[in-house]
This record gives sequence, structure tokens and C-alpha cells, in this order.
Amino acid sequence: MKAAYIERHGGPEVLKYGDMPDPVAAPGEIVVDIVAASVNGADWKVRDGKSGQLSRFPYILGRDFSGVVSAVGEGVTDLRVGDEVFAVCDVGQEGAYAEKIAIKAAIVAKKTGALSHVDAAALALAGLTAIVTVEDTLKLKKGETILIQGGAGGVAAFAIQLAKHLGARVITTSSAANHDYVRSLGADEIIDYNKTDFTKAVKDCDAVFDTVGGDVAQRSFAVLKPGGRAAFIASGQQAPKPDRSDVTALRPSVGRDRPHLERIVELVRIGAVRPPEVKQYKLSDVVAAHEVSESRHFRGKLVFVVR
Ligand SMILES: NC(=O)c1ccc[n+]([C@@H]2O[C@H](COP(=O)([O-])OP(=O)(O)OC[C@H]3O[C@@H](n4cnc5c(N)ncnc54)[C@H](OP(=O)(O)O)[C@@H]3O)[C@@H](O)[C@H]2O)c1
Repeated sequence: MKAAYIERHGGPEVLKYGDMPDPVAAPGEIVVDIVAASVNGADWKVRDGKSGQLSRFPYILGRDFSGVVSAVGEGVTDLRVGDEVFAVCDVGQEGAYAEKIAIKAAIVAKKTGALSHVDAAALALAGLTAIVTVEDTLKLKKGETILIQGGAGGVAAFAIQLAKHLGARVITTSSAANHDYVRSLGADEIIDYNKTDFTKAVKDCDAVFDTVGGDVAQRSFAVLKPGGRAAFIASGQQAPKPDRSDVTALRPSVGRDRPHLERIVELVRIGAVRPPEVKQYKLSDVVAAHEVSESRHFRGKLVFVVR
């Protein structure tokens, strides 16, 4: 099969596109012929050694995908060859930048016909992360106000729509070029972070969801009301430490399972969430896609159309 992978050449790792061995379904696993796979911020961080050290090469990147089941391992009874599925790779296991992947059947969900493979791949890890953060971690409630930092990104696009669906008021930050986009997702108030200091424009929030990291994450505590809670997904494995004692800092634990993927399907089915804007790439254009992802200034998701 063809895949995009990292090789080490005694110096910095390089991204390559070429032949790799076909995967085989172990007991409890399926093999999926991947149709689309998405780019996540984690991918270039892994490539750069910023997210743990890789010990084996060649290494196939990629955390989420959509495709068609092509083989079923021993003991798998709930999925069949030909099923259209999407998934997020198990924690610590990547490999979606490829024509095929072997994956535990229990963490794969059936794709709804209402979604294309490209959109399902775009929604998988972004949607899972948004649901775990907004519903499971922040436990956002109707009538609450949430500031979602980085509204034009893939995770935030889902989070804005989910927060609106739950009945919250949503404030978000983005550059001016993306204001129409985040408004179309349902944001009630939009701050151009290049012109306005959000800590001066926003106060008394019940919750913050930070997808930006760095200084933006640390300064986000200032907008919370006493008792407020903030969740962080772009500050490493620990939430930043609050500089005040009356708020809570949370680092969502984004596990893998089928029910959360089925929640994505359900939210799409009822019209609560639509897929993000997508820019499509061929898998052989992996270097160009990583350059855009690493720039951190694009809208929605970057998705490889693999076949
Ligand atoms: N399980 C997990 O923990 C998990 C899962 C998924 C993602 N993540 C992390 O979450 C973060 C977000 O990922 P993502 O894929 O949704 O988006 P992303 O690709 O990392 O971010 C792109 C977006 O960030 C916006 N942005 C950049 N700087 C900003 C700033 N100072 N203020 C407001 N917006 C800003 C950009 O919009 P503008 O062009 O308008 O600036 C762009 O649309 C990444 O760090 C990623 O690694 C964690």
C-alpha cells in the first residue's frame, strides 16, 4: 500500500510518500481501506519531536480517517466487509496517512450516509475532542456563557455548534478573515484577537474552552466568573495553573470509544453540527499540508483524499 511516513536520516526526520507493507487484522481488529484521513495539529508536533520521541521508523502519522472495511479479524461480529466506517486511532497508535489501516473494531463507528468520507474524517478527532471537552469535561449547561478560543479551527468549529445546541451563549476569537465563518457556525459574539485584547472585552464567563495554547491559554482565566471552569487542549498534557483560586483548570482526557463517534453521527443527523470547511490534499502532498497546518492560520480542517 501507499502511505505518507516519517523516515530518520541521521538528522531531522523527513516526510516521505511511498510503499509500506499492508496491515493485517489481528483478533478483535478490522482492516479499513482508507478513503480520507485528516491532518491534526498533533501530526506536525509528533514529526517535530514536540509530542514525544518516536522510537521506530518508518513511522506512519495520522490519527483519524474514514473508509470501507476490507477485512475482519477473529472475534469481530459487529462490523462486516463493505461497511463504511470512521474512527480515531487508539491512543499511542497512529497510521491513518495510508491506504489501509488495522484498528480495534471496538473504537470504530459506522459512518452515516449523510456524511462524505472527507467530512467524516474531518469530524472524527475534532468532534471527539469537542464532545469530551464541552459535554463530559466542562459539562456546559443551557444558559451558560462560554468563550471558545480559536474559533476557526477544526475542534472549535465543532465546539461552537455543540455549545449552541446545548443552549449556551458563545463568544469566540478569530482573525477578521474568519469572522463570517465563525458567525455561520453560530457564534454570538466574535473578537478579532489581532485588534482587541479578549481579557478587556470579555468577563463573567461560566466556561472557557481554549484551543490556542501559550499565552492565550494562561490569560483565559481572567474572563471567568468566580466558580468558572476552563478546559485546555493546546497546552500539553497538563492544564495551565490558574493565577486565581476561585476557578478550575481542566485537561480533558480524550479517550477512544464507539459511543462518542456515534454522538458525532447523531449531532450531524439532527442538524446540530455540520462539517467544518475542508481543504483537500492528495496524500502525496503531505509536506504542503503540514506546512499549512503548522502555520496555524487556516479555516476548518485539512483532509487527505487517499482514494
Ligand atoms: N485530544 C486532544 O487533546 C487534541 C485533539 C485535537 C486537537 N488538539 C490540539 O488542539 C489545538 C487546536 O487544534 P485544531 O485542529 O482545532 O486547530 P489548529 O489547526 O491548531 O488551529 C487553527 C486555528 O487556530 C486559530 N488561531 C491561531 N492563533 C489564534 C489566536 N491567537 N487566537 C484565536 N485563534 C487563533 C486560527 O484562526 P485564525 O486564522 O483566525 O487565526 C486557525 O483557524 C491544537 O493545538 C491541537 O494539537 C488536541
